[in-house]
Amino acid sequence: MKNYRYLINWIGGKRLLRKRIATMIPNNIKGYIEPFGGGAWVLFYKEKWAELEVYNDLDSRLVNLFNVVKYHPCEIARQMCYMLASREQFEQQIFCEGITDIQKAARFLYIINRSFGAKGESFGTSKSSGIKSAYGIIERITEISKRLDKVLIEHKSAFDLIKNYDREIMFFYLDPPYSCGEGYNVCSTKDFEHEKLAQLLKNIKGKFLLSYDDSEKIRELYKDFKIIEVVRQKGINNRNIQDRNYKELLIRNY
Ligand SMILES: C[S@@+](CC[C@H](N)C(=O)[O-])C[C@H]1O[C@@H](n2cnc3c(N)ncnc32)[C@H](O)[C@@H]1O
Repeated sequence: MKNYRYLINWIGGKRLLRKRIATMIPNNIKGYIEPFGGGAWVLFYKEKWAELEVYNDLDSRLVNLFNVVKYHPCEIARQMCYMLASREQFEQQIFCEGITDIQKAARFLYIINRSFGAKGESFGTSKSSGIKSAYGIIERITEISKRLDKVLIEHKSAFDLIKNYDREIMFFYLDPPYSCGEGYNVCSTKDFEHEKLAQLLKNIKGKFLLSYDDSEKIRELYKDFKIIEVVRQKGINNRNIQDRNYKELLIRNY
């Protein structure tokens, strides 16, 4: 197997931190739950984390994409063959939603995969690596379809999901929208209720590991838990900020 294990880049995705996060996930967990799934970089990092694995996100475009990749990999791969690395086609696709779930998923995958910084706004090329391979995306679809075989895909508010699955034997990896930062317009970052999440996590029975931006507000909300500071290089969407490094917090209750 090639070293893919991801399907899409996603704003806030844990591409650069997943190795570190993986070292902090306890062994022998019975359930692995990701309430803020996004591009699922941590879930896909390992072949299998637990017998029960749950991916969840409130963004229906992501949930539809992962369901289609899981259940209809050949159909979405076939659609992707017609989607060229072309600026002209990209600009047309921005405006056509697709009718069936498979068409919608293919169009969403194309827009995210071919856009600058995975923002879904403008066609992206890189000075160092050129354009992305069309074969790469087809191979990733096949690989991720297999990885999702026994993963349950949910489409709920993270708050409800955590309450539903909370048991002593469960492990939650949580990567909510950051208190300062960018996101997509769907499930907007600025409306997220950070205090409500902190309140909920104070009383859960399961284990949790939470990643956040390093801000006074977050440090105060989670002052009763173990907090580790980690530094990573900035992603493509934060390069305009002076300092090259970006500080994040990993917070856990175990
Ligand atoms: C920082 S991203 C997660 C990135 C992910 N860890 C990755 O590696 O790609 C946060 C995700 O939370 C989702 N989200 C925002 N509010 C939510 C809510 N109330 N319930 C569930 N998901 C939510 C967003 O749609 C977004 O995909």
